[in-house]
Amino acid sequence: MADLPIIEASSEEQLHCNCDLEGVVSQSLAFRKVMELVDIVAPTNSTVLLLGETGTGKELIARAIHERSARRTRMLAKLNCAAVPAGLLESEIFGHERGAFTGAVTSRSGWLEAADQGTLFLDEVGDLPLEVQPKLLRVLQEREFAPLGARHTKKVNVRLIAATNCDLEAMVAENRFRSDLYYRLNVFPIRIPALRERPEDIPILVGYFTQKYARQMQKQIRSISSTVMRKLLRWHWPGNVRELENLVERAVILTKGTILAMPTPDGNTSRKTPALARIDNIEERDRITRVLKITKGRVGGATGAAARLGLKRTTLINRMNKMGIDPHTVFSESQRLPDENSFSTSGSSAPTDSPREVLQEAPPS
Ligand SMILES: Nc1ncnc2c1ncn2[C@@H]1O[C@H](COP(=O)(O)OP(=O)(O)OP(=O)(O)O)[C@@H](O)[C@H]1O
Ligand SMILES: [Mg+2]
Repeated sequence: MADLPIIEASSEEQLHCNCDLEGVVSQSLAFRKVMELVDIVAPTNSTVLLLGETGTGKELIARAIHERSARRTRMLAKLNCAAVPAGLLESEIFGHERGAFTGAVTSRSGWLEAADQGTLFLDEVGDLPLEVQPKLLRVLQEREFAPLGARHTKKVNVRLIAATNCDLEAMVAENRFRSDLYYRLNVFPIRIPALRERPEDIPILVGYFTQKYARQMQKQIRSISSTVMRKLLRWHWPGNVRELENLVERAVILTKGTILAMPTPDGNTSRKTPALARIDNIEERDRITRVLKITKGRVGGATGAAARLGLKRTTLINRMNKMGIDPHTVFSESQRLPDENSFSTSGSSAPTDSPREVLQEAPPS
């Protein structure tokens, strides 16, 4: 493990970037468990099924498994079942003989043969057409296959890693995926947690990607505002690590000095990324609803929500209207919640501010 000091988040915080040989960055317990499974399964020849939302790192993990196996000196072939037209997929995987179909003027070997003695990474395996599935099952069970149009079978020694963000079990129940193939693929499933389930990885990933892109762009970036980092920790990252990586790349492009110029809510709105703009909205909605609960839904007056937030009453009403916040609904809903102070609209598992902090952070109108 290389331990690279990278960026200083604030005068109090020092960030580090732990990345391993395959460029996998991890700090959270959840991701360390994934890497433990990778280490256990890599030296075997067993089929691995990688499950996880888009952008969680399935391809990166597939690479790590291959690199940590005895097959590392041989080929890691990658085929994305969703990217190849269904009619061509069978030929792409198994190859074809001359004349097997219109346009097959020469015979051609497929990815399975190319990956012989190595690893075949079958991405988006949920998109594998039903008619091709028995043929893949045969490879897994008997280590043999027949190219399209061939009368003979060929032996092959390939380790298969499959990945999907589909619910294969549900697809089996709906007869959209063969159960026998599902059980054969599901020998060693590894579920990669979404980024929102492991916010501890966010600072270290920000550090890693900042370093990666700053080096490419020949920039010296040493720090990031801790306010921005807090916002990043609170976002729910529907696009997972890929979304974070893209955001950091954009920030590095924008950075002129040594502080990572992640667009902030106080900054130029035209430079705000959609993700950060949504974070601002979530934070503001969160702040307003918390204060409304404290004031029991009262907006105006010396102790009303507008005064507590440091806003004019009309400004607050306008913002609430835009956000569809009804003060009475917020208050009556809070009465049904067990812990009044734990109310949050962010949906994030990351810690949220206490009402006291909210009031201190309230911006001037
Ligand atoms: N733990 C990690 N450390 C460093 N980089 C990561 C990590 N996880 C993901 N990435 C990076 O995030 C990007 C997306 O990862 P990857 O392509 O492996 O995701 P995926 O799960 O295969 O996504 P999809 O389902 O959309 O194909 C890649 O650039 C990858 O290098
Ligand atoms: Mg992928």
